[in-house]
Amino acid sequence: MLEVKDLKKSYGKKEVVKNVSFTIEKGESFGLLGPNGAGKSTTISMICGLVPYDQGEVLVASQSVKQFPVLIKKKVGVVPQEIALYPTMSARDNLLFWGKMYGLTGAQAKKRVEEVLDIVGLKDRGKDRIETFSGGMKRRINIGAALMHEPELLIMDEPTVGIDPQSRNHILETVKALNEKGMTIIYTSHYMEEVEFLCNRVGIIDHGEVIALGTKAELCSRLTGSSFIQMKVESLSDDAMKALKNTVENGQVTFQQDTGIIEVFTPNPQEAMASIITTAVHAGLKIESVEIKESNLETLFLQLTGRTLRD
Ligand SMILES: Nc1ncnc2c1ncn2[C@@H]1O[C@H](COP(=O)(O)OP(=O)(O)OP(=O)(O)O)[C@@H](O)[C@H]1O
Ligand SMILES: [Mg+2]
Repeated sequence: MLEVKDLKKSYGKKEVVKNVSFTIEKGESFGLLGPNGAGKSTTISMICGLVPYDQGEVLVASQSVKQFPVLIKKKVGVVPQEIALYPTMSARDNLLFWGKMYGLTGAQAKKRVEEVLDIVGLKDRGKDRIETFSGGMKRRINIGAALMHEPELLIMDEPTVGIDPQSRNHILETVKALNEKGMTIIYTSHYMEEVEFLCNRVGIIDHGEVIALGTKAELCSRLTGSSFIQMKVESLSDDAMKALKNTVENGQVTFQQDTGIIEVFTPNPQEAMASIITTAVHAGLKIESVEIKESNLETLFLQLTGRTLRD
């Protein structure tokens, strides 16, 4: 369905996307996970032809986005990170407008509007103006706009940021159902749980580079240990950090200054626990809490970069 090859983009001297490559098969649900400023939106904008790329190639159904921009627009639906709706127009008229942009007119367009309102769960609000909607409802109509022309590939850029849990769940369930019916999905987020729930394959992007790519199982197999030690301390000196690092063999220790959280990755954290605590006490650390936590994709990001996804 999609091939992204060695994509590059710079703004001025800053290279914001560096050699990004990945392939998505028809029917897949692919998650693009990365922190703020990682290059997710820029990558997406290049895939759908909204931003020109400096180098590389994007093929949708084997056709170049550069050579066949109109054809590609028919196949791809994009849900932008920012709401792209007319506030004083009704939900129904907004959807009709987006339908028209994709060549839908007359009875066919009206029928599709009702179907889309049903998909996003807002059938009873069709006549209301967008400005009277909650943030979550606006997000749902924003998704609806991208569904009007029944795209084969739906690309969503952080569609659940800043909304209520009910709308969030509704969106996640809607996306899951669309994928189960055969739509190929690219879902961009910095919420690991959403990507874990929706996506069978994941690309982790940081500073414009794909630093990990694969199925959840493949990515989790790269983790050091299925669990890790998390310790909260008041502060950490360089010497204490050195002592902790010396305590764990074949492992890794990270520290986040702002939260006072130390994380220790080692193949067997249960075994290492006692020596970590002893070292910490000897180094004079004031331990506020210590626990063993289950690893997930967020842990992998932490292991690869030393930072959390929401730094
Ligand atoms: N039009 C632009 N002009 C200059 N710099 C830009 C432009 N668009 C994006 N950037 C820069 O490119 C980098 C990547 O931005 P991008 O919006 O792709 O990140 P993101 O992963 O989508 O982040 P977020 O999670 O915050 O949406 C950032 O450093 C950003 O400042
Ligand atoms: Mg973005």
